[in-house]
Amino acid sequence: MEKVRLDKFLSNNTPFSRSEIKTALRRSNVTVNGTKVRAGDEKINPESDEVLINGKAVRNFKKVYLVINKPSGIISASADKTRKTVVDLVPEEYKHLDLFPVGRLDRDTTGLLIITNDGEFAHKVISPNNCVEKCYRVLLDGEIPKSAIKSFEEGIILVDGTKCRPAKLEIINKTVAHVTITEGKYHQVKRMFGVIGLGVVKLHRLSIGQLALPGNLKEGECVELTSNEILEKTLKLTDS
Ligand code: URA
Repeated sequence: MEKVRLDKFLSNNTPFSRSEIKTALRRSNVTVNGTKVRAGDEKINPESDEVLINGKAVRNFKKVYLVINKPSGIISASADKTRKTVVDLVPEEYKHLDLFPVGRLDRDTTGLLIITNDGEFAHKVISPNNCVEKCYRVLLDGEIPKSAIKSFEEGIILVDGTKCRPAKLEIINKTVAHVTITEGKYHQVKRMFGVIGLGVVKLHRLSIGQLALPGNLKEGECVELTSNEILEKTLKLTDS
């Protein structure tokens, strides 16, 4: 197996941020085969070397990226005591991989959700700093006024005073619109329409960046994508 940098191995296989990893290295809290290592650029063999950070062994996960068509009634979490989660829906062969959903869709929201074990990737997709566009089809309980396009463009101010980033609103017909946002505040789309006096009857995510929900993917079904495909389509990055 090809050797990889210790710092990259740690960031790919642990929930720690780059700066937390740097700190752990500096404080001699990382060991490779029992020896303290402080240099992040040290090369290790992910399959045979035993790496510990803060006393805990780091497993070498294969990174996986699944796209699921989330059905309504399922929660966006890895596990839950009583309710069914999106991770419960993934095929058995992926179940041991410590998967989690990238961000959350409300229980009644359907459509595109990425499930992965790549924390660094998930963070980049969710972080508002990266401005990754998330597009939703929305069915509303009333007629959408044309003036809403401008209000969304200027940035809706939610009832609690939170200012949303500019969002794109495309009116498809009287009660259906496509809305594109670059952040993911709690119940954001529902609250944005609430401000203009409309209730969301149905919310369905169509895309994340250039990654669209495959048209042939039935509700509850998943498809695995390569890291190249997913990085390029969501973050415009190549897998290096
Ligand atoms: N905005 C919402 O209100 N709900 C979702 O599930 C996603 C975006």
